[in-house]
Amino acid sequence: MPDSRPAMSPADAIWVRELVRRRSAIVLDESKQYLIDTRLAPIVRSEGLGGVGELVARARAGDRRVVGLVVDAMTTNETSWFRDNGPFELLRTAVLPYLVRARGSERRLRIWSAACSSGQEAYSVAMLCTEVVPPGWSVEIIGTDLSPAMVARAREGRFSQLEVNRGLPASHLVRWFTRDGAHWRVAPELQRMTSFREGNLAEPFTDLGRFDVVLLRNVLIYFDGATKVDILRRVRGVTRPDGVLLLGAAESALGLDVGWNRETVAGSSVLRQDGAPSLSTTRAVPSLPPAGGVRPPLPRQAPGTRPLVGAPKPVRPLPTTRTRTHLSPGGR
Ligand SMILES: C[S@@+](CC[C@H](N)C(=O)[O-])C[C@H]1O[C@@H](n2cnc3c(N)ncnc32)[C@H](O)[C@@H]1O
Repeated sequence: MPDSRPAMSPADAIWVRELVRRRSAIVLDESKQYLIDTRLAPIVRSEGLGGVGELVARARAGDRRVVGLVVDAMTTNETSWFRDNGPFELLRTAVLPYLVRARGSERRLRIWSAACSSGQEAYSVAMLCTEVVPPGWSVEIIGTDLSPAMVARAREGRFSQLEVNRGLPASHLVRWFTRDGAHWRVAPELQRMTSFREGNLAEPFTDLGRFDVVLLRNVLIYFDGATKVDILRRVRGVTRPDGVLLLGAAESALGLDVGWNRETVAGSSVLRQDGAPSLSTTRAVPSLPPAGGVRPPLPRQAPGTRPLVGAPKPVRPLPTTRTRTHLSPGGR
């Protein structure tokens, strides 16, 4: 049955778009009005309101809880395990082996899943680290997201059958999850390697420290050009000089920022800073089985230790190319 409630007034629509841009940097132009209507309708219902006009009136009157609900509703939280596969293969075969060599004396890695949504990205990286990083190393994976609801879900580490069906190899499900009613709960060992907190990419990065790897994937697409440049610059400030930045498949720093250069290894690209040494030219461990495929789980480890397979073994060189994404000041 068609919804007979009055649609959002043009003035309210402009106010909501501006609110979302101010709070999250997410750009919603007029063509996204359908999205605003669709996303706000469930809040109108759950709050028992007469219509979207009443919801916006509450937000405009300064109801912080309602403002939070409206902004949160405008985030797109689509994610999956080992999303797009290629970047995770690159982490496994080149980035992590490189960092293990480069940080040999520190025996510590810090990784940031910026815009982590419900945590699949951070937990996927944690699984990789258990296979590639030698025993005794400290691995800290921090996930941040604007959405308090997503951060709470990531922290809980509890996923539906539908969610685990999206990109998680069967062997990893067997090895890293236990049944929890109709859901699956991630292993405490992966939870000990990860932590999650709220964080707005449009605001200064405080108390995060510096990272060896930053995954900033499938989020820049929601921002305007100036915001992208600003975030990429500030991400550089929290990435170690030879660290690695991974963007989403549809995202690029091309022409956007001074100081990030694209390095392509075996067909997948990462961003490196000016002067960073080339990544590993060695392959470390066999690749992931296809999603849903079966590979025997590695042997279970003793409680409190990580099931690591030891230092990476060089096998064969990977083709590597480097491309500047821009001209440095004074460059050609
Ligand atoms: C499409 S998901 C990407 C999740 C994951 N990185 C991936 O690639 O699968 C985008 C996420 O960005 C978050 N987000 C949007 N604007 C943000 C901002 N200003 N600061 C931090 N996170 C933001 C959303 O809440 C959402 O969870």
